[in-house]
Amino acid sequence: MNVSVQYQIRGESSNLISASIEDGIRGGRLRAGERLPTVRALAAKLDVSPTTVAAAYNALRVRGLVHGSGRRGTVVNRRPPLLTRATLQAPPAGLRNLAEGGPDPLMLPRLKPYLGRLEGIQGKYGDAENRDALIKLAARQFKSDGIAADSIAVVSGALDGIERVLQAHLRPGDIVAVEDPSYTGVLDLVAALALVAQPVGIDDSGPIAADLKRALKLGAKAFIVTPRAQNPSGAALDRKRAAELKHVLAGFPDVVLIEDDHAGPVSGAPAITLSGGRALWATVRSVSKSLGPDLRVSVMAGDALTVARVQGRQSLGPRWVSHILQDLVAMMWADSATPTLLQKAADTYANRRRALIEALARHGIEARGRSGLNVWIPVAEEAGVVNAMAAKGWAIRAGECYRIKSAPGIRVTVSTLTVEDARRLASDLAEALRPRSRAQSA
Ligand SMILES: Cc1ncc(COP(=O)(O)O)c(C=O)c1O
Repeated sequence: MNVSVQYQIRGESSNLISASIEDGIRGGRLRAGERLPTVRALAAKLDVSPTTVAAAYNALRVRGLVHGSGRRGTVVNRRPPLLTRATLQAPPAGLRNLAEGGPDPLMLPRLKPYLGRLEGIQGKYGDAENRDALIKLAARQFKSDGIAADSIAVVSGALDGIERVLQAHLRPGDIVAVEDPSYTGVLDLVAALALVAQPVGIDDSGPIAADLKRALKLGAKAFIVTPRAQNPSGAALDRKRAAELKHVLAGFPDVVLIEDDHAGPVSGAPAITLSGGRALWATVRSVSKSLGPDLRVSVMAGDALTVARVQGRQSLGPRWVSHILQDLVAMMWADSATPTLLQKAADTYANRRRALIEALARHGIEARGRSGLNVWIPVAEEAGVVNAMAAKGWAIRAGECYRIKSAPGIRVTVSTLTVEDARRLASDLAEALRPRSRAQSA
């Protein structure tokens, strides 16, 4: 239900009015679902013309902060794309941080040996945007995973790649099919681009085909799928699900398929693609989880048009991804020691997921985590559990920021979680859930 707003909106120009509303949202005084005053009411209150207020509301709408208009009213979005969420969710100091979703620093290659091997010559304007060595290595990887590698771009991480593909093909107001639950960054990005997220339910094998069909029938112009290491659920596509999804997608040939392979070789699941035979597609493979978040290079395979549009737009802004980063990634990929290192990381994460899931099962708690760095635990009431766990020294994530319509849960990042930690965490969680279940059964 929408609640009418109590917050005092101020300003005598459209810019100041929209800034005042944005300020209210950022500070949490204007909350998701709250209804802004009608254009006429606010204009009368602020003594400005209705056109001024309408312009302010429109600016907020285009930026994804509010939705609706006219008689339906203007309502604060559930996920306004502001920089507040991460800050609000930053775990208090002193807690064991299992909330971040990142890799174990000990599982990443050491940088120093590679830095010493950089040529040390400053790059210059006019150098080729992409390093040949990186593109060749990327093409080899993509090909061996059954992904066409005729056109490859280099971008700054998975999220950057996703944004560039969305910008290349979609316009504000377009619908995007997204997994539900889904990575916060993707949901925020979709809102920030003033696109409309259409949820697609998932299970351990990835998106559910019937749900995808429903979303595409509603007019979705793009579909963002995480083939493995789905965040937060750990889902990974299997061959059967991939075939079902491809069958659905075949009925919608214009839909842009975006594959978010953010964890790549450390996912603990094979690379499976839906891209074969599609007209508009991109598979974005990031090194953030496998080689380190600060390297933040992604290689993107795609159809010629999509890759050309991405590169064309990129050439007007960042121009290229730093050649220093490209060289480092190429060196790491070419190093004969790297496959062993990545396999060790993938195995370690798999063991850590398994340790937690099994420890939880011993307490009768169901959890999911087929691949990736996280385990998802369904709970009835997220905030209470997160607070109870914080009191016991654990920082974990409430699932709310990942969900659209899906059921509540909590996310535990297991990348650094030892077997001993997993046992303690499971026992603490069992205790945190106990009074709640008694109350429920009462
Ligand atoms: C599903 C998913 N996609 C993308 C990203 C971001 O990747 P990158 O750092 O390469 O932008 C993350 C980060 O955790 C993620 O979980």
